[in-house]
Amino acid sequence: MERISRIVVAGGGQAGGQAVDSLRREGFDGEILLVTAENQPPYQRPPLSKDYLAGRCDRDRVLLRPEAFYAEHSIELLTGARIASIDPGAHRVELETGRTLDYDRLLLATGSRVRRLDGMPGSDLEGVLYLRTLEDSDRIRAAMERAERVVVVGGGYIGLEIASVAVEAGRSVTVVEALPRLLSRVATGELAAFYADLHRARGVDLRLGSSVARVRGEGDGGALRSVELSDGTEILADLVVAGIGIEPVTDLARDAGIDCDNGIAVDSGCRTSAPDVFAAGDCTSHPNAFFGRRVRLESVPNAMEQGRVAAATMLGEDRSYESEPWFWSDQHGVRLQMAGLSEGADQTVTRGEFGGDSFITFHLRDGVLIGADAVNGVREFIFCRRLIAARGRPDPAALADPSVPVKTLL
Ligand code: APR
Repeated sequence: MERISRIVVAGGGQAGGQAVDSLRREGFDGEILLVTAENQPPYQRPPLSKDYLAGRCDRDRVLLRPEAFYAEHSIELLTGARIASIDPGAHRVELETGRTLDYDRLLLATGSRVRRLDGMPGSDLEGVLYLRTLEDSDRIRAAMERAERVVVVGGGYIGLEIASVAVEAGRSVTVVEALPRLLSRVATGELAAFYADLHRARGVDLRLGSSVARVRGEGDGGALRSVELSDGTEILADLVVAGIGIEPVTDLARDAGIDCDNGIAVDSGCRTSAPDVFAAGDCTSHPNAFFGRRVRLESVPNAMEQGRVAAATMLGEDRSYESEPWFWSDQHGVRLQMAGLSEGADQTVTRGEFGGDSFITFHLRDGVLIGADAVNGVREFIFCRRLIAARGRPDPAALADPSVPVKTLL
């Protein structure tokens, strides 16, 4: 069998970070280079809009692995290093500095970038921020300490989590969401309404079906003053944070002629259309057995799973992606966990009182459990995931009955 001496991983997010660890766990003893444009070793992004932003945990706690891990496992970490191009034919990548690296296997784990308000008048003012990196979170936290009025643009997980942290810190917070409801990409209308009530009860001013027309400063290019909505309403603000979605970073792949289809197109083993080039995480779309179609998943569990699968297939093992999607979010001390899908359900049952302190909504199609949304249902959630993975056909009456542990329905 061909000898693999060097593996280059492009991108140090959760997928890249997981992959280098998995390569060593799989027994690979050749060279591993992890190239990341960030100035940090791989870290977890979810806390950046939750506990880390709130100052409840420090940088060490968000690192994926302790800093010493990489040297201990002979993984060369190139931070602050950006790859300019890849040449799959020559098995070579070139960094922006001009340095080239040859590889036997390349993993693209280039992640996503945030969508920006570019083009909107005032969007380049200093007090308009975005959240993606650790440094972004530090910047928002520092700005939030000085700000009294915060306007959040976007009512997805990111916007709502930031709103929750800001309200808890005593700030006056307005969320401006373009669509008529919150969480439209990820949650059912009922769950979105529950979250709207929760945010309003905690004092967040929600402006649904509204968009921001411009951001105003004091005089020319001065400090931020207000946000003007498209209906002319002016909202005073000394900090604007936009969480209006992300897009996959596919430039390197595209420029190298690698197939992209709503992300770098990979098969269930994380192989791209180019020989010896693999891809994992947010930047990919993959054929997903659970969805029955190709999907791009913006989620940590997906990044970790693809990181593990890619590590194995890069080494020539036959491994396939098999997990079901799941997500979580923390807002106002309430934990939301979602598994599977609600789309396409023909029956929905709720365990506990919908809207109460703790409840789980189950989604079924043709009697098969396809999704579960748990609000403060942490203990049962793991069994909900297993039941969904097992394509279980639980009795709906038992699902709705809080005295029947979900575990017993497996
Ligand atoms: N003005 C107001 N709202 C907007 C605008 C705009 N100009 N543009 C988009 N939006 C709204 C969308 O309607 C949507 O409700 O912003 C929201 C963005 O939500 P998501 O697409 O879920 O993205 P975001 O919350 O930014 O999360 C980005 O981080 O936590 C992860 O899972 C999350 O992968 C996702 C990523």
